[in-house]
Amino acid sequence: MSEQILVTGGTGYIGSHTTIALLEAGFEVVVLDNLCNSSVESLNRIERICGKRPKFYQADIRDRKALDQIFAEYQFNSVLHFAGLKAVGESVQKPLDYYENNISGSITLFQAMAQANVFNLVFSSSATVYGAPTEMPIREDFPTAAPTSPYGSTKLTIEVILKDLAKSDQQWSIALLRYFNPVGAHQSGLIGEAPNGLPNNLLPYISQVAIGKLHELSVFGGDYSTPDGTGVRDYIHVQDLADGHLCALKAISEDAGVRVWNLGTGIGYSVLEIIHAFEQASGRPVPYKLIDRRSGDIAECWADPRKAASELGWTAKRGLIEMMADSWRWQENNPLGYAS
Ligand code: NAD
Ligand code: UD1
Repeated sequence: MSEQILVTGGTGYIGSHTTIALLEAGFEVVVLDNLCNSSVESLNRIERICGKRPKFYQADIRDRKALDQIFAEYQFNSVLHFAGLKAVGESVQKPLDYYENNISGSITLFQAMAQANVFNLVFSSSATVYGAPTEMPIREDFPTAAPTSPYGSTKLTIEVILKDLAKSDQQWSIALLRYFNPVGAHQSGLIGEAPNGLPNNLLPYISQVAIGKLHELSVFGGDYSTPDGTGVRDYIHVQDLADGHLCALKAISEDAGVRVWNLGTGIGYSVLEIIHAFEQASGRPVPYKLIDRRSGDIAECWADPRKAASELGWTAKRGLIEMMADSWRWQENNPLGYAS
């Protein structure tokens, strides 16, 4: 019998790509999502891509009764926990919503897991837990720092909770995956990132400028001490990220305790480099203007990915132009996201 995996947030951007990787690897996947930031259409697209459809429950991770019912129905080997709210700016406006959804929801999920004797967990953390390191590239043993947003606080708090949990009961086997900047889309152009309203992140914004939905990109700050003055980040293809989850699943099935891995490429690109690469991959101009820095932004942030390479046997394989081309294919084929 194939292993059963619960994927919370599995209709979302990263969860849907990981669900495909799991189905293609032969796992039986159950997706749980409340659809607050995603669409059921992603399930149809997943089925078109890999010929299999995951079981789906529209449910909330804060709903203990629903969780208990789902855990009673299956014998999960592991849980991949993507569900959460992720808009940094919105988290500043609505901190209680973020603490309630992300932290209370995660606690409820972990309680339901323990009751069902499921102790293998992969958690979606973020490079935001490092704050503003003074040295690059960022290694996993760098100290974590006070996050600059309630969103970041929820990620760091959940990491702390999981470390305490693993100390209290040695059955837990947990991977904390600190993502750098996920971009791109499945090469089929059928699934991708579908932000609600005005995009906050760079790639969705550039894509909407290139397609003509938005007039021009505002580049936040041209006066950083980086080679061209604009912010530098470690952009990683979402399919490489998905593959990293499969490697983490294998690692947690072999050893107990909490372990942390960066999922990044180890290469930093500036905002201007990203704009030019996107123009090259799409054949469309991306008009932009330089404006003031965005509050809370840091100058540069890229991963040291060697720990994941040596311990998980995982490295990112897709390069910059592939990331841009795949982002563009998704945008061009789905100008209205899943609504089109
Ligand atoms: P996403 O919004 O596309 O996916 C999250 C999914 O969780 C959505 O489908 C949403 O409907 C669901 N969800 C939210 N709250 C829920 C709840 N209470 N119960 C059930 N479902 C709920 O986001 P994503 O980009 O796929 O991110 C996935 C995870 O990775 C998140 O935890 C996010 O914080 C983390 N992460 C994302 C990034 C990024 O840049 N995308 C970077 C670092 C970490
Ligand atoms: C943001 C979040 C971070 C989160 C990460 C992944 C903030 C402050 N940080 O990181 O907590 O973990 O997303 O979800 O929101 N840029 C522009 N113009 C734009 C948008 C972005 O110039 O319209 C620049 C930014 O200044 C930055 C780079 O592009 O230099 C990447 O920005 P973004 O995609 O928002 O990601 P991060 O800020 O790295």
